[in-house]
Amino acid sequence: MDQKRPIGIFDSGMGGLTVMAAIRRRLPNESLVYLGDTARLPYGTKSAGTVTRYAAQAAGALGRFDIKLLVVACNTASAAALPTLRESLAPLPVIGVIEPGAAAAVAMVPGGPIGVIATEGTVKGGAYVRAIQALSPAIPVVQQAAPLFVGLAEEGLTHGVIADAVAHRYLEPLLATLPKPRGLVLGCTHFPVLKQTIAKVAGPDVVLIDSAETAAAAVEEVLSARGLCNRGPAAAPQFLATDAPGRFADLGEIFLGEPIDPGAVTLVDL
Ligand code: DGL
Repeated sequence: MDQKRPIGIFDSGMGGLTVMAAIRRRLPNESLVYLGDTARLPYGTKSAGTVTRYAAQAAGALGRFDIKLLVVACNTASAAALPTLRESLAPLPVIGVIEPGAAAAVAMVPGGPIGVIATEGTVKGGAYVRAIQALSPAIPVVQQAAPLFVGLAEEGLTHGVIADAVAHRYLEPLLATLPKPRGLVLGCTHFPVLKQTIAKVAGPDVVLIDSAETAAAAVEEVLSARGLCNRGPAAAPQFLATDAPGRFADLGEIFLGEPIDPGAVTLVDL
């Protein structure tokens, strides 16, 4: 039946598991298939054309699971490829993380100013600035690329002197801009696991905005509107990785917040 079909989720690596976790909390009856393109991470330093090609291949692999909705749980891929994916996959609904993140930022810090930390590709493309200012044109938005956070998260180095030093390096210039940002968008799926470190350096007067919860809310809204919510129990989650499935199962727990059964991770070639 249509409702029983799984939701497909993809990211360049394991970071999108933070979005998968939010979807699992909000929609426990939904079956989920996650693809991490671990062989080709990072997407954040690659051109928009390359990221769009990778995203189309990831969507193709998930399409073989007869998915009912696709979540692009990668900010860089959402920024580069969302319109192309929506057009080529229609009528399959495709949800990215930038629009929900921008909506959360405007709701949580009306009037701004808003800072955005993200990968180089997301910052260069300016997708967050456009999405935030489409909702609230006068809001000042400042951006900072923070690529080393991706490596720290993938290594599990989310706390301690190295993470602190990197956070100071990226956040101090951003927070020194005037007027000082009152909200900071974690514009990369890897950053929520560094939230405590980022919050410590940003200080208590800066609100951190994470798009995982709002992306999950957007998924629920689309499923309900199309009568696609599953009422029965969910199947066990499935995982696909394009390289090192064992490492994916070991380190994925940092992002998913629960252990991953190594037997549930399949190696795939895109
Ligand atoms: N998943 C990417 C994002 O959310 C970060 C990792 C990468 O650069 O591939 O932008």
